[in-house]
Amino acid sequence: MSNPFEYGTTVSGSAFCNRTKESADLISTINNSLRAFLYSERMMGTTSLVRRVLAGLDRDKYVAVYIDLWATDDEASFITATARGISQAMGTDASRVLEVAKRFFSRFSPKVSLDDDGKPKVSFEYNPTAEQARQSLEEVLAVPQRIATESGKKVVIVFDELQRILEYRDDHVERLLRSIIQMQRNVSYIFLGSQKHLLQDMFLNRKRPLYSAADHFPIGPIKVEHWLPFIQEKFETAGRKISKQVIEHICKLTEGHPFYTQHLCHAIWEKLAPGQEATEEDIQRGLQVLLAREAGAYSALWESLTINQRRFLHGLAVEPPPVSLYSLAFVQKYGLGNPSAIQRLSGALLKRDVIDRDARSFVISDRFFRIWIRERED
Ligand SMILES: Nc1ncnc2c1ncn2[C@@H]1O[C@H](COP(=O)(O)OP(=O)(O)O)[C@@H](O)[C@H]1O
Ligand SMILES: [Mg+2]
Repeated sequence: MSNPFEYGTTVSGSAFCNRTKESADLISTINNSLRAFLYSERMMGTTSLVRRVLAGLDRDKYVAVYIDLWATDDEASFITATARGISQAMGTDASRVLEVAKRFFSRFSPKVSLDDDGKPKVSFEYNPTAEQARQSLEEVLAVPQRIATESGKKVVIVFDELQRILEYRDDHVERLLRSIIQMQRNVSYIFLGSQKHLLQDMFLNRKRPLYSAADHFPIGPIKVEHWLPFIQEKFETAGRKISKQVIEHICKLTEGHPFYTQHLCHAIWEKLAPGQEATEEDIQRGLQVLLAREAGAYSALWESLTINQRRFLHGLAVEPPPVSLYSLAFVQKYGLGNPSAIQRLSGALLKRDVIDRDARSFVISDRFFRIWIRERED
């Protein structure tokens, strides 16, 4: 029996836990043809969530387009990624996909092949000048509206890894997106990506084209009450056992962060024989395997920090969340001088992605690094 806990890739089907409320909110956004901007800490599960919502939409009523901008670096690659996403969303057989691609994107010379799973995959031969790209961009971004009007279906366009567009030559894509998303009817847009501070700047900074162009959807950790049945069921169908208390302890250690929770469960499961029950010692054993793997990187990171940054992180790691960082008690307990120092410390650590903001305070981004820091103490 293979390990039932998955980490590091998009999860779907039975590997996907809960997110009922978030899914319902997104479906409502789609039904109302609105725009949503999802943001979260790294690996919190935004891609998995959105892909799952799209997969659940009735194809008779919706056209669901997923566009991954990760591999794009200019307008031309943005155009082909978008055209590919739209074409592939329009059908499951190669001839239909090619027909759509030729109809809307003939000037990019589309070709269709089959990927490893037998799904049609569109590619284009398109090397435009900057001027040509500029023109094509408007055409491509007008296609969702054409599809919505012609088909009578609701269209949803997802742009994942949106922060990539900040690396393009100028903000033309951003500006054009702003104007088209406001005009289109029966089309909704969902924006997400993996660098929260860049994305937040795109939507929260008044000076940027997309400022206030979409509703904000913060995506947080998964609650222990949802992890409980999920983790228990995975252990049981695999002929192992785990108690409520042990799961609660795992979730406390990972703070319910999906990636770290799956990763730790994977490590614990790995060491159990069939029929065995996971205990507190198994948690420790699983953790030691994971921490040993990261020890070099964590030590190097720690060494690179100033004394006060280490004290600050230590306090953040050991105090029960949410930590009141600006309180005199915290500052005194960890020898940080006065509360005004906190802003500087947190600013520097935020920039390096060592910590992140959550709804209530700051958190150490890497939940295993947090545990490593706690364990150093004794
Ligand atoms: N709903 C979920 N249920 C269980 N595990 C999840 C869920 N969402 C995310 N994960 C875990 O987190 C990892 C990262 O998910 P992903 O969707 O790629 O996050 P993001 O796009 O926010 O970086 C997955 O590999 C998986 O281990
Ligand atoms: Mg992602």
